[in-house]
Amino acid sequence: MSRIPKSFIDDILTRIDIVDIVDARVPLKKAGANYVACCPFHNEKTPSFSVSQSKQFYHCFGCGAHGTAISFLMDYERLSFPEAIETLAHSLGLEVPHEGGEQEPRDSFEPLHNVLNLADSWFRQQLKNSPSAIEYLKQRGLSGETAAAFGIGYAPAGWENLVSQFSDQQKKHATTAGLSSQRESGGLYDRFRHRIMFPIHDRRGRVVGFGGRVIDPEDEPKYLNSPETPVFQKGRELYGLFRARQQNRHLRQLLVVEGYMDVVMLAEHGINNVVATLGTATTADHLRNLFRAAPEIIFCFDGDTAGHKAAWRAFETSLTELDDRHQVKFLFLPDGEDPDSLVQKEGRKSFQKRIETAQSLSAYFLQQLTDRFDGNSLDSRAQMADFARPLLKKIQAEVLSELVSGEVAKRVGISPAKLLGGSKPMPIEHKPVRRARGARLEMNDIRLAVAALLAQPSLAGKVEKPEALAQLKHAGIPLLLELIEQLRGEPDLTTAQILEHYRDKPESAALHKLAAYEFPNPDNEADLLEKVFQDALQQLRRKAAEQRYAELLAKSPASLTPAEREEIQAFGRS
Ligand code: CTP
Ligand code: MN
Repeated sequence: MSRIPKSFIDDILTRIDIVDIVDARVPLKKAGANYVACCPFHNEKTPSFSVSQSKQFYHCFGCGAHGTAISFLMDYERLSFPEAIETLAHSLGLEVPHEGGEQEPRDSFEPLHNVLNLADSWFRQQLKNSPSAIEYLKQRGLSGETAAAFGIGYAPAGWENLVSQFSDQQKKHATTAGLSSQRESGGLYDRFRHRIMFPIHDRRGRVVGFGGRVIDPEDEPKYLNSPETPVFQKGRELYGLFRARQQNRHLRQLLVVEGYMDVVMLAEHGINNVVATLGTATTADHLRNLFRAAPEIIFCFDGDTAGHKAAWRAFETSLTELDDRHQVKFLFLPDGEDPDSLVQKEGRKSFQKRIETAQSLSAYFLQQLTDRFDGNSLDSRAQMADFARPLLKKIQAEVLSELVSGEVAKRVGISPAKLLGGSKPMPIEHKPVRRARGARLEMNDIRLAVAALLAQPSLAGKVEKPEALAQLKHAGIPLLLELIEQLRGEPDLTTAQILEHYRDKPESAALHKLAAYEFPNPDNEADLLEKVFQDALQQLRRKAAEQRYAELLAKSPASLTPAEREEIQAFGRS
């Protein structure tokens, strides 16, 4: 794989303006120092999507979406990173240079999309020619219209039916796209044979993969999906999302079910706001995509043990992703039923009645506490508090967090502050908590310093004695020092450029959150930022000194070196 040089990415970010990039796709209005619009990543009536020209960074206070011009193109146009760079370079009339490896074609995924499209129309054609496959779908209760609406097809029995449709050039890509496999003896064979084919579309409606179901019950496995490919990641795509959004651009709620047939059969019965995860647990990526599509997400689970386990996992993922503008609900079906079987048995109306009875996330949580702890003894209540505390701390939605903590505290019989106070993850004192609207950010000195640096990178030049900070034992210190050092060398970097330097690193998510942090009183931003920054560093130096002092005091007096004795005395004087 060839790589795009970092310097080229820096160069592009210097030359473009995020305001132009966004404005061309989502018209922006000037509001104070920033530009605003209704957020393209979730449904809203009043604008909470804000673009900062100085930071070259966008942030939505509603859904929390944020990033650089590159991330914007990736998310808005569903481009890969290289594709986004390519788009920006193209608009500047530049060629993307590649280091190591040969030059990649313009859109490196285009050949994959081509073979996937070809396969898609070919499978649909094959269904028309296969009475037995049509019969299978009929017998399952599916009409021709619904099958066509979902682009359902058929992969015939035999080993080389599809691959023989491809040119030699395309064959290479067919394997990368997950449609065929390499024989040891050379040559290719079809991955999907004698199966009903469900095409999987990405958000833009491009076919990125397939799910194939057996027709003969003795064949295995029952469902075979495309493998992960450069254009298909199971943890990201949702079956049916493109079509659900086509049916209704302003979905009020989305139902998340387990299987392809559930989505299709509910549509057969007129329920179109349904998507399925692709044989995986719900990921944070899934949730973010769901929240962009609708304010209310209802997870639908089987009533069996596996269903309850899956619900708990979805609950835990929701805690960190949920904000106060969205709702997550849980619906459990009777044991042994799935939406497919149930809607055929009881019809649309009854199924919709069930949807209305779905449990809210907080109700589900409280129910779980009741099920797990009787709460009669003090011990059981203490256990309940221990169990609930880490979960409560994960809730990012401010109001919800407050309400649920209050309710749990009542059950335990202590104050909400005590309940949450248990073990603070940060050993450093918190300043009065300042919050960005929407995303809750517990700020501490390190985070404040990093946020100030991101907002105004030139502050790095104003740090006196960074070595003193290095002594502080805290998880955030290495990153802070790394940023200071880097920015001293390159004081002209913008926020966006710094974020892109960290794109694939573990610190990236935290840096994005801090880049979105809103300092109070933006009118006087430059002065304020410097003060916040210097105050925070001052606090950190004080902490470092205290840690050192405590360390020295913990030593046995006899083992102290003369220099260390001197240090202790100096502390005493200060
Ligand atoms: N699944 C899968 N691989 C399997 C089994 C299941 O990817 N070997 C996924 C598929 O997305 C499937 C979903 O899990 O749609 C649910 O599987 P299951 O409950 O076994 O099947 P149903 O959806 O009930 O399928 P059907 O009604 O066609 O039997
Ligand atoms: Mn089923």
